[in-house]
Amino acid sequence: MADNILDAFKNKAEDTAVTDGRKLKVGIIGTGWIADAHIVEYKKMPDVEIVAGADLVPGKAEAFFKKHGVENVRCYLSHKEMLDAEPDLDAVSICTYNRTHAECAIYSLKKGVNVLLEKPFTVTLDEAVEVCRAEKESGKIISIGFQPRLDPNMQMIKKIVESGELGQIYYIQTGGGRRHGIPTPFGTSFIEDETAGVGALGDIGCYSLDMVLNAIGYPKPLTVSGFKSDFFGKQEITYTRSGRPAEYAKKFSVDDFGAGFIRLEGGIVLDFRIAWDMHLDTPGDTIIMGTKGSLRIPSTECWNGSVGGPMKIYHDVAGEPTFTEIPILKDSVGCFYKKIRSFLDAVKTNGTAPVPTSQILYNQAIIDGIVKSAEIGHEIEVVIPEI
Ligand SMILES: NC(=O)c1ccc[n+]([C@@H]2O[C@H](COP(=O)([O-])OP(=O)(O)OC[C@H]3O[C@@H](n4cnc5c(N)ncnc54)[C@H](O)[C@@H]3O)[C@@H](O)[C@H]2O)c1
Repeated sequence: MADNILDAFKNKAEDTAVTDGRKLKVGIIGTGWIADAHIVEYKKMPDVEIVAGADLVPGKAEAFFKKHGVENVRCYLSHKEMLDAEPDLDAVSICTYNRTHAECAIYSLKKGVNVLLEKPFTVTLDEAVEVCRAEKESGKIISIGFQPRLDPNMQMIKKIVESGELGQIYYIQTGGGRRHGIPTPFGTSFIEDETAGVGALGDIGCYSLDMVLNAIGYPKPLTVSGFKSDFFGKQEITYTRSGRPAEYAKKFSVDDFGAGFIRLEGGIVLDFRIAWDMHLDTPGDTIIMGTKGSLRIPSTECWNGSVGGPMKIYHDVAGEPTFTEIPILKDSVGCFYKKIRSFLDAVKTNGTAPVPTSQILYNQAIIDGIVKSAEIGHEIEVVIPEI
């Protein structure tokens, strides 16, 4: 039985590529760490031609394409330079740090180019609204880089909720984090306000929120009571214990922990917490509580885009309390491949973005709400302007 389920997922994933003989001209904006994952997947796709790239650091884009053995790519020093000089682009991957997500996405859409934008959507809700407006005006597709939702186990969470097995959902607890895992892989772009704008909340918090909000159909957030802190990022030991420079502590200017209590449309409450660093293994499993059953999703020790073990549905059978274990589903294709493939297929078919801004706008509104509520010290109403 389990093998059949796995085969079904495998076949579905491998059959997705739309083969209409057309080659898509693609550009990559920002050629840092995550751009590696994009180009590796693009190179597997015979219907993609990478024609342009841009990075603010002189020589970085050229070195990136050379490292990946991709030739004849025209390189530029900013997204603007690239988009002005390349009128024939079909799509761009925006792999820049968070602070430049909105400006790169808006400029691309205004130039009539489809966008795959890395997560988090933006830094603020206002920026996200501006991107949604540019998308509406352009008629182009923008998809946000939330690859974990393409993991078969994540999709199973949504299937369980949609099947009605849990009844009416009324309470959700989600989040996650790392014991000691403030990201400084190639410098400080994740931990400085001027490049990142938001810390753990935006970096991995957006995934935890998407895991449950996507499952329940993305109800609108109504109110948020938020908290954020930065106790660990400002300490030298955080960096020196893993061989990183002590001076990173002075540059740390975002959150390393965030929490929120959110009321959602439909009477559901969401209790959320996320940590880049803490004295704890995990801040708890994700639970989705319903009137007929509740789902426990074991936490991972670090966000890895999937679940930390077999999920369990707790329910009554013949009036007796019991549980059903959901076996782990293996992913034979990889979420990153699916994230890029599903975006390109939507471009080719003029379809719907696989991770649409209409949903992620609510994800961003919650993160923005936590930041604002934490700053003023009490609950706030979430107000999302008309797009
Ligand atoms: N989906 C995932 O699994 C995943 C994983 C890691 C990072 N990310 C996201 O990807 C983004 C980039 O992260 P990273 O680790 O690659 O960062 P990075 O700092 O290594 O690279 C970002 C690059 O963008 C360039 N850049 C910034 N603004 C630009 C502009 N206007 N035009 C051209 N280049 C510009 C910078 O010079 C830098 O080289 C972040 O938003 C991060 O949250 C996603």
